[in-house]
This record gives sequence, structure tokens and C-alpha cells, in this order.
Amino acid sequence: MQYLRDAGVEISEWTIKRDLTSGELVEFSSRADALLSAGGNRIDESFLRSAKHLKVISLHSVGYDNVDIAAATALKIPIGNTPGVLSNATADTAFLLILATSRKAFYMHKTIQNGDWGFFEPTANLGIEIRGKTLGVFGLGKIGFELARRCYYAFGMKVIYHNRGHHAEAEKELKATRVSFDELLEKSDVLSVNTGLTAETKGIFNHLAFMRMKKTSIFINAARGAIHNETDLIDALEKGIIWGAGLDVTNPEPMQQNNSLLSMPNVCVLPHIGSATEETRAAMSLIAAKNIVAGLKGERLPFAVNPEVYD
Ligand code: 8YV
Repeated sequence: MQYLRDAGVEISEWTIKRDLTSGELVEFSSRADALLSAGGNRIDESFLRSAKHLKVISLHSVGYDNVDIAAATALKIPIGNTPGVLSNATADTAFLLILATSRKAFYMHKTIQNGDWGFFEPTANLGIEIRGKTLGVFGLGKIGFELARRCYYAFGMKVIYHNRGHHAEAEKELKATRVSFDELLEKSDVLSVNTGLTAETKGIFNHLAFMRMKKTSIFINAARGAIHNETDLIDALEKGIIWGAGLDVTNPEPMQQNNSLLSMPNVCVLPHIGSATEETRAAMSLIAAKNIVAGLKGERLPFAVNPEVYD
């Protein structure tokens, strides 16, 4: 906010604590030259057509699955995002979920709250160890690389990944191996989703995928909830098709409080807090503000999702 004020930008803020309806978004943007959007507001083609006057739309996120990028590009509206600065915080969250899930940490915490810290049973509530096991990363980019580094250095994990192309740095530094999607499913002890939500990745972790995974495996998603099919995930956990799951994102969001995943011992769920640290949110905000100021000046955005608008 201060960066915007210092640049002479007049700010009008949406203060109601929910995403805007499409009508509200159109109305709210009609008097503005730029839009800074935090959270999951739907920036679809119909909105973009009615907001052609916007010089820039700046997202307070690295993900842009809520935006029709092709439509924005056709209308020459630059879309900004915040890559890089949230990779460490998001990887930390995924790492936290791996450990917490493997030791049933959230569930065990609840047993104390419920007054169930009772008689010591040597074989009750045992977790599984991840040291030396195989981490599979679905979509090894900036966040996946940071997660893989943590798993490699802290736990000596073997790293495999499934990407369209090779990730040279991960192959060199972490001896990571690029594998097919089927191999990723079959060989991972911990399978972490670290990719964007696209038509290709939507629902790709479904019954068939879970069926190919190891019975002892842990599924982690700190990317987008819609990449997994939640009904199929619940079924896979209930039937012991996979061992556990750690989710920072759910499908849908917010998750309902009676969702059965919340009472499963081998499941840890967080309410989409991947990037939620003081340092990271401040860094994201500054980039989002810089994208706004550049857009208002008609300059190239420091971080544009659709640099084709400048062609
Ligand atoms: C945020 C995110 O929670 O950057 C992303 O894609 O999912 C998160 O960092 C959120 O989108 C902040 O507006």
C-alpha cells in the first residue's frame, strides 16, 4: 500500500471479507485504471471484456488459474503475478505436511485435547519414517525444487519427478531422475503435487492414479485442490489404497468442517497457508504493487504472466 501511495496511486479497497461476485467485480473495477486481486476472484472472459479499460491486473499470487489468460492477452491486458518469493515458504509448508502426516501429528494433538492421552501402548499410533525413501514431485519448478532440496538434504531422500522437460539443476544438485507419470505413481513413497492447475492437471490424481500408488505412500498437495479428486482421495485413504495425505489445498475451498479427511489419523489438512508468512506475504505484496505501478505507467510489468501482450 505504501509503495502504491508513494507512487501517487489513489487506492480504493474492497473491505468485505469474501471474494467479489462477478457483478461486484465489474462495478468495483469500472472506476479503476488497475486492479490488484488477492485470493480467488474469477477473472473470466466476460469480466475482462467489461474491464478492457484496465491497464493492468496484478495478482497477489503466483498461481493464475482463476484468470482467463488467453482472453486477457487477446484484449492486451497485462496480468502480473508473484513468482519466486513464495517458493521457500510454500516448500516449507509441504515439508511440514510430509513430516506431520508421516507421524500423524495433527491427529495426535487432537487426542490430547480430547483427553485421550491414556495408557502407553508400544504399537499404537505408529507413524512411518521418510528417511531414505523416495520423494516424487509432480511438477518440479521453483517450489518443487525447494521441497526436493529439503527432503534430499534433511532426510537423504531419493528424488524423482515428472515434468514436461528436464530440470537440469535438480538433476545435477539432487541427482533427481525424470520419470513418466506412471513411474512417479508407482515408485514414490511421498508424492508431492507442486504444479499449476490447468486443463491437463485438473483431477489427474483420481481413483486410477491412487490405485497405482504404493499402499504405504503419502500424497501431498500444496498446489491447487482441483488437481486431486477429493472423493477418490477419501476413498483411497479409507480403503488403505494409500497410507496418508497432507493437504494445504482442498477441493473445494474452504473445506467443510464435517469433511471426513479431518478425522482421519493419517491425514493433515491446512487452510491454504503455503505462502502465509510475514516475510513472504510482504514480498508478494511489493511485487504486486510494482506490477501495478509499471502497468499504470504503460511500462512492461516486472513479472507478467502474459508477456505476449508486448509483442
Ligand atoms: C495465496 C497461492 O494463498 O500464490 C498462490 O498461487 O495460492 C497463495 O500464495 C493466495 O493466492 C494469495 O492471494
